[in-house]
Amino acid sequence: MGEKQAELLAGPASVLIVEDENIIALDVEQSLKKLGYKVSGLARSGAEAIEKATSCRPDVVLMDIRLGGPTDGIDTGGLLWSKMNIPVVFLTAYADEGTLERAKSAAPFGYVVKPFHDQELHAAIMMALFKHKAFQELEERVRERTILLEEAVRSRDEFLLVAAHELRTPLTALQLQLQGLERMVQGTLHSSPSDDERKIPGKIEKAVRSAGRLCALVERLLDVSGLGAEKLPLLREETSLSQVVMETVETFRAKAESAGCQVQLEVADPAIGTWDRSRLEQVVSNLLSNAIKYGGGKPVDVSVAADGKVAILKVADQGIGIAEADRERIFGRFERAVSLRHYGGLGLGLYITRRLVEAHGGTIWVDSSPGAGATFSVELPQGREAGRS
Ligand SMILES: Nc1ncnc2c1ncn2[C@@H]1O[C@H](COP(=O)(O)OP(=O)(O)OP(=O)(O)O)[C@@H](O)[C@H]1O
Ligand SMILES: [Mg+2]
Repeated sequence: MGEKQAELLAGPASVLIVEDENIIALDVEQSLKKLGYKVSGLARSGAEAIEKATSCRPDVVLMDIRLGGPTDGIDTGGLLWSKMNIPVVFLTAYADEGTLERAKSAAPFGYVVKPFHDQELHAAIMMALFKHKAFQELEERVRERTILLEEAVRSRDEFLLVAAHELRTPLTALQLQLQGLERMVQGTLHSSPSDDERKIPGKIEKAVRSAGRLCALVERLLDVSGLGAEKLPLLREETSLSQVVMETVETFRAKAESAGCQVQLEVADPAIGTWDRSRLEQVVSNLLSNAIKYGGGKPVDVSVAADGKVAILKVADQGIGIAEADRERIFGRFERAVSLRHYGGLGLGLYITRRLVEAHGGTIWVDSSPGAGATFSVELPQGREAGRS
């Protein structure tokens, strides 16, 4: 009966025996042969086990735990599984808590305590082989799912980009028309306008603002497609980071005030470098708008420092902060660490920011204590040579 079961998997399963005591090794070999398995080799040490497993690729390894030599069975078993994907069944005289605990680290497929009955050994090997097969099938399914998911993400990105592209032309036209209308209406109100007439300029102004917001959103989506390119073109010129920061903070005044948040500036040096001014404006705007959005109405500190080699910009808020697990991820495309219900956004600001900083040869990172705020730091080389373009 044993013979039949051992052959369930396309021919007899092959087993590598790792055992440093000759007599026991021969005994195990005999049992295996009786049970219908093919013994593909016998190794006496961890190193020999790896060598033989590499050359004969057994279906399963029967591993003694205490082996002579520098590596024991647990270390060797761990390597066989993690590097070569070969399932390991421990066959050992030891079953104390300490050994069992350590054995877990090798992710064994079975554990048989010596002395053993042939049927016990057989059951353990069979289970290991079936578990391994199920594991491989699961892995294959995960691989297929991953491909599907990657495909879905790609089509989403492509759809957004095409949509943004198509929306841009009519939106720009709409914005221009509304701005024209705004100019025409200014000064055309006669001396005693009706209530409705009085409301017209305000309504047009709101429409212009909404159109502006839509245009900015569409531009941002398009920016992402441009940023996908290998090399980002930069229009470098002598630029003062401090000046860019001061001007940008100024444009955020109203927004910060309406969020009840005070922006404090600390600028110690003009921080001159050969940078793309409008790209730096984007960097500062993205960080500042996040600090205001996620800053919980508490003060935001913006500082610039430079030493002639590098300039450092810091934007620190005292808001919700970012969990450690999210700190790298949020720089990815469409990655967010908050729910859309609480905070609107596309998850593109930091992605764009990082691409722009890196195009300048710089780095960006975040420090945060969740619940107590986040500090984003940007380091930019002041000399041109460090940049990529
Ligand atoms: N100052 C901050 N404090 C706490 N979380 C932040 C902060 N800045 C960014 N985050 C987190 O990082 C995520 C990504 O930020 P990013 O600026 O890329 O996107 P967004 O603000 O969600 O949308 P948008 O594309 O409009 O900027 C945010 O959704 C938020 O979870
Ligand atoms: Mg943002």
